[in-house]
Amino acid sequence: MTHTIAVEDADISFTCDDGETILVAAERAGYTMPYSCRKGVCASCEGFLSKGNVKQRSKQIAGPSGKVLFCTATAKSDLTIRPRRIQRHDPSARKTIQARVFRMSRPADDVAILQLRFPASIRSKFKAGQYLRIRTPDGDVRSFSMANPPQESDGVQLHIRHVPGGAFSEKVLASLQIDDKLEVEVPFGDFYLREDDKARYVFVATGTGFAPLKSILDDIIRRRLNREVRFYWGGRREADLYLAETCKKWAKRYSWLTFVPVLSEPDSNWRGRRGLVHAAVLEDLADLSDRHVYACGNPMMIEAARSQFETRGGLPRNHFYADAFIPSGSSDTTPAQILQTVD
Ligand SMILES: Cc1cc2nc3c(=O)[nH]c(=O)nc-3n(C[C@H](O)[C@H](O)[C@H](O)COP(=O)(O)OP(=O)(O)OC[C@H]3O[C@@H](n4cnc5c(N)ncnc54)[C@H](O)[C@@H]3O)c2cc1C
Ligand code: FES
Repeated sequence: MTHTIAVEDADISFTCDDGETILVAAERAGYTMPYSCRKGVCASCEGFLSKGNVKQRSKQIAGPSGKVLFCTATAKSDLTIRPRRIQRHDPSARKTIQARVFRMSRPADDVAILQLRFPASIRSKFKAGQYLRIRTPDGDVRSFSMANPPQESDGVQLHIRHVPGGAFSEKVLASLQIDDKLEVEVPFGDFYLREDDKARYVFVATGTGFAPLKSILDDIIRRRLNREVRFYWGGRREADLYLAETCKKWAKRYSWLTFVPVLSEPDSNWRGRRGLVHAAVLEDLADLSDRHVYACGNPMMIEAARSQFETRGGLPRNHFYADAFIPSGSSDTTPAQILQTVD
């Protein structure tokens, strides 16, 4: 059965087929709404259901409700919704590019930095913090965030964590040679800096969750935005913070940036902060009510940060932006399984 979805306070409506998610129905009708994981984990797509009934995985939700994930919710009646943002899709904004492997390095045992170059006349337009999709040999796709700033538009730098048995991060990477071609589609995602002259930012990453924040920091530096940023980077051991020296240099050079490395399982020589990275934020900043938080990496860290920053730190719900690095292949893993598989 087909239902009609109206967008509150906008002259927009579209139809949603049985079993189709609200996000997919909006995209089919030519609109874009915020999203990241598309699997019900990161809450980037969360919006308001003013009227009607939806099914969200096994849960039935009746409007009014402010906690509907449009990437997983399907319509059970006609609906009125209020997404955080909706606009006409610009088809020229996204490109499929045959990129060339330009350079590969391993800053840590389980992290590869892959640099891809685009053909001479091709440039890609993206916002610092967004991600791309690489097509794998079996036709599936994998998502990776750009670590380079948008000013470097002739290619991309990707930071890829090794996932044991991973089709891309283990098998494809092991056989990849310089000058090999990879098909990438760019850009995707809603994890980019909302610029506000007065905003005070807190960036939180685990592991390769640093990649999009590196792009954002590099962009802030190049555009001389001089915003107050406290950047907390968490890992188990020192090697997990594979570009900590770059962050330390930036923090020394730019007075607006504070860098706080945090390790949960450091060796005895470690003199820095210990514990979980989101806990370190709350130890330093008891009041988050006027901060804007950008969190990226392990989905469990993101879950914990979102709920504890809100309940204990008073962070407004709409001041939290996140990219959860969940498995991005097409397998239909549930949020519970994802949170279990991620270390
Ligand atoms: C928006 C977005 C941006 C991302 N950006 C980055 C990035 O910049 N750098 C980066 O390293 N990763 C990033 N990821 C995660 C990355 O896309 C996945 O880790 C990737 O799918 C691993 O692919 P694979 O082919 O190696 O493993 P797969 O073959 O997809 O998976 C192999 C097994 O490992 C599990 N698995 C897959 N990914 C993970 C994971 N992340 N953690 C734990 N278990 C996993 C799977 O469930 C499966 O059982 C991003 C994910 C999303 C959604
Ligand atoms: S995009 Fe819906 S929860 Fe991540």
